[in-house]
Amino acid sequence: SLLDVVVNNDLNIEGFGACEGTVTCSTCHVILKPEDFERLPEEASDEERDMLDLAYGLTDTSRLGCQIT
Ligand code: FES
Repeated sequence: SLLDVVVNNDLNIEGFGACEGTVTCSTCHVILKPEDFERLPEEASDEERDMLDLAYGLTDTSRLGCQIT
């Protein structure tokens, strides 16, 4: 997932991935370009959608980075 990329590369993004991918935060919120959003193999689960509703600046192409594989 994008969360793995951040962790494995020791990227210092303040607060990103606070719940470590358990879908209980929205700190991994990312906004994708429409063309990239369309290429994702899976749609957001109900659990992800519920958490996205709490994300700041939600857009039509928002996802949780920990759920993108
Ligand atoms: Fe918490 Fe993605 S890291 S929902």
